[in-house]
Amino acid sequence: ATERTFSIIKPDATRRNLTGAVTKMLEEAGLRVVASKRIHMSREQAEGFYGVHRERPFFSDLVQFMTSGPVVVQVLEGENAVARNREVMGATNPAQADEGTIRKSFAESIEANSVHGSDSADNAKIEIDFFFKPEEIVG
Ligand code: CMP
Repeated sequence: ATERTFSIIKPDATRRNLTGAVTKMLEEAGLRVVASKRIHMSREQAEGFYGVHRERPFFSDLVQFMTSGPVVVQVLEGENAVARNREVMGATNPAQADEGTIRKSFAESIEANSVHGSDSADNAKIEIDFFFKPEEIVG
């Protein structure tokens, strides 16, 4: 079924001017950008967004990284969008990502891994609502 997922183009990618290259790979994977904005996340936003990772050893570094420069938050729509997006992103750790994936192509490290994507339809809804008002999404 047609569904939506949430994506972030992370600071390591915006810094290297890869917004278009990443978006092209998302589009070529059958995903449509139905909302997009470039923002500089506040510390509060980053901590809130990654709240489930609060107890993880990498949490403070992750918040530091995600607020280190601009990001592009996007809503993606398509058939099985959550799974398709995860497929084209590749594994969290770029060393384990398959050839042809975004992270294999662009990621610098497990932290600076160029993109975020929702891991389930339920989380997609929560993450979309975190950054977008309904009227900002134009399907
Ligand atoms: P993301 O999919 O945005 O979700 C959590 C992020 O934490 C992850 O991508 C990485 O950018 C970052 N991270 C840093 N270290 C780790 C780690 N050891 N395991 C998982 N995620 C990590």
